[in-house]
This record gives sequence, C-alpha cells and structure tokens, in this order.
Amino acid sequence: MTRITCWKTLSETNRSPIFGFLVLPSSKLAILEPCSSLRARGHRLLSCLLFSGVALLCLQITSFLRLFVVKTDRVVWRIGETATSEQLGLSTVALAHSSPRQKDIMKLGKLSRDPFLMAQSTVRIAFVTGAARGIGEAIALRLADDGLDVAVNDIASKGEELAAVVKAIEAKGRRAIAVPGDVSSEEETIAMIDKVVKVLGGLDVMVANAGIFRIELSLLDTSVEEWETTMATNVRGTMLSFKHAARQMVKQGRGGRIIGACSYAGKKPMLSAASYNTSKFAVRGLTQSAAMEFAKYDITVNSYAPGAILTPMILSTDDAINGGPANTFLKYCGIPTDVPKADPPVVAGLVSYLVKPEAYFVTGQCININGGILFD
Ligand SMILES: NC(=O)c1ccc[n+]([C@@H]2O[C@H](COP(=O)([O-])OP(=O)(O)OC[C@H]3O[C@@H](n4cnc5c(N)ncnc54)[C@H](O)[C@@H]3O)[C@@H](O)[C@H]2O)c1
Repeated sequence: MTRITCWKTLSETNRSPIFGFLVLPSSKLAILEPCSSLRARGHRLLSCLLFSGVALLCLQITSFLRLFVVKTDRVVWRIGETATSEQLGLSTVALAHSSPRQKDIMKLGKLSRDPFLMAQSTVRIAFVTGAARGIGEAIALRLADDGLDVAVNDIASKGEELAAVVKAIEAKGRRAIAVPGDVSSEEETIAMIDKVVKVLGGLDVMVANAGIFRIELSLLDTSVEEWETTMATNVRGTMLSFKHAARQMVKQGRGGRIIGACSYAGKKPMLSAASYNTSKFAVRGLTQSAAMEFAKYDITVNSYAPGAILTPMILSTDDAINGGPANTFLKYCGIPTDVPKADPPVVAGLVSYLVKPEAYFVTGQCININGGILFD
C-alpha cells in the first residue's frame, strides 16, 4: 500500500501515465506516512525509486508497442487518441485485471478474445439498419454517444430522415454516413457494407434492426405475397446483414459484434400476426446459428426481443379513441393494453452494453426487454 502511494506520488511529479495493471481505486491511495527512523526512511526512499523506475520502464515499452495506458480515469486507445473508460465500456478496475490468470479463464470459453485487443482498434465503426426513426435511430445515437462512428441505413424514400440522423451523430463529434438501401436485397446489402468500409474504414458492429409489421386479419387470408414481403425484410434482410457483416469482420480479423432485432413475438406469438411472429422466431434461430458459427472469429451474435416500444411501428392515429399510445396495436394483437410501454432509448441501452468489450462472453442470446410481460 505504501509502495503504491509512493510510486503514485512520484508518477504525478513526473506527469507520467499510469499503467492499467498498476492502477488502484483512489480510495486505496494514501499519503506517505511519516517514518520514525532514519533507516526506515532510507528503506522507503529506495523502494520508491525502484518502483518508480519500473513504472517508467513499463511506460516506455507500452508506448513503443502502442498498447493500453491509463491516465487515472482516462484510457488511451492508441497514443494520441483518447476516450473515457465509460465510452470503452471498461472500468479502470476492469483494466487492472489483465493478469495471465484472467486471460487463461477467458480462453476456457469459446470466445477467447481478449477485450483489450478488441478495444485497441482506434474508433469502432457501427452500421445500424432501419435507422431513420424508432429503435434504429435511438441505437445509432446511443452508439455515437458511446464513441463509435456510425453508418445509418433505411429505405431510399427515408433520405431526409436519415440525413437528420447523420447530422445528429456528427453534432456528437462522431463521423457518420447515410447508406440508403433495401436490406432484403443481397446486391444492395453488399454495396452498403462496401461503402461503410470504404468511407469509415471498417466494420466492427452490425445492428440488423430493420423490420416491418403488416396487418394481417388472419392466417386463413394471408396471401403468399404478404407472407413473402414480411419474410424478405425480417428474415432474409437480417440474414444478409449478418452474413455480409461477418464476412467483413472475418476479413479484418479483429472480431466484432452482430445484433439482430427479434421481438416479444419471437417468443410468444401475437394474434393476427402469423408472418411477423414466424419471422421473429426465425431471427432467434438465426441468432443462435450465427453465434455458433462465428464464435471462432471472436464475433458475438445476439438479438433484442422488445415488448411494447413506442415507435411509429406500433403507434396509430386511432390510439386516442383506444385510450392511449399503442393501444390500437395491442388490442389488435390480443395483448392487454395495460402492459408496460417504453421509449426506444431503453432498447438502445441494451445494445450499448452488448457492443461493449466487457460483453464478450454474451453470445447466442435473444434478450427480453419487455417490462416483465414475458419471462423465458
Ligand atoms: N416497436 C416495437 O414495439 C417493437 C417490438 C419488438 C420488436 N421490434 C422490432 O424492432 C425493429 C425496429 O422497430 P421500430 O419499432 O423502430 O420500427 P419502425 O417502423 O419505427 O422503424 C423501422 C425502420 O426500418 C425501415 N425498414 C423497413 N424495411 C426496410 C428495408 N427493407 N431496408 C431498410 N430499412 C427498412 C423502415 O423504413 C423504418 O424506418 C424492427 O425489426 C421491429 O420488428 C419493435
């Protein structure tokens, strides 16, 4: 304890960054106690000099190798680029746990990637589909707050809304581009990912959020065309986003995060929504299949399964006569209108966590976020 204090004092005098594995919570740092004997003082001074010397030597090696260094509560990604530890999703204490033992523990799981290595890439790049409004927009803005550069997609007719999202991300100090296109087309998906890589420099996070909900009176009357339209966006579109994002991530060789949009309806079917229910059950299957397949590339794959989130998808002009926001949709789907409802940033918060380096051990999950209306 005294040694750490002494070392810290000298480090501050030298204005030197502090090594992650040497950082302790400031509560544990105390001021040097006065020493009673001359011999004890000499002993302490010697220990201080020795410790400080080792710290400075480590710093030089780190700078040379361009590894992590920690300046109290701030993390240097690469020399010259900074982000708060909150943006990285790593606490100083978490950073302090880089012992060989912990690395061994990480390697016991299928995902052996050291979260330190993942965060070493300068600024991570995310691609969010269906981001002109609703949950996708909230996710894009949240990832920008977390320090990622973000490409946003939606169908071509939503160009104006997409441009506004790009502006909002740029206002947060992050880079952003709009990549309009239809996620159900393989050609367009490939072209969109190519553009993200070309303009922003890579792809670390894919959020396959785009989805549609179409009113169906009954399965008895559902036409093949209606069925195919829902499947094309919700299933094929998600599959194509997963596939081509993963191809890029494998090429880059630094792992990645893939996240899909499932639903409450992907776990418990809603009335009058057979194709939607089926499409979201498929997203769960896809999430699990992709997680198994991509684990060896250090890519985690998860999906979110929201309950009632107040977006244009479930809001209606008839809500006023039905007693409140989303009640028309809920009645139509046979769900009680008094279920808890939330706003899109609630889902964005979950995605923010899944994207963080510390979530490396979460994969293949379809995570409920529904106010408690359904448990697995
Ligand atoms: N809102 C909810 O309560 C809720 C609940 C569960 C799951 N979800 C799922 O979350 C996702 C987002 O939902 P939301 O509520 O924000 O919906 P939303 O309708 O508000 O937004 C979805 C966006 O996706 C875009 N989109 C549709 N088809 C596309 C395509 N082929 N290519 C590119 N973009 C396309 C739309 O234009 C729209 O801007 C969807 O997959 C939805 O199924 C929503």
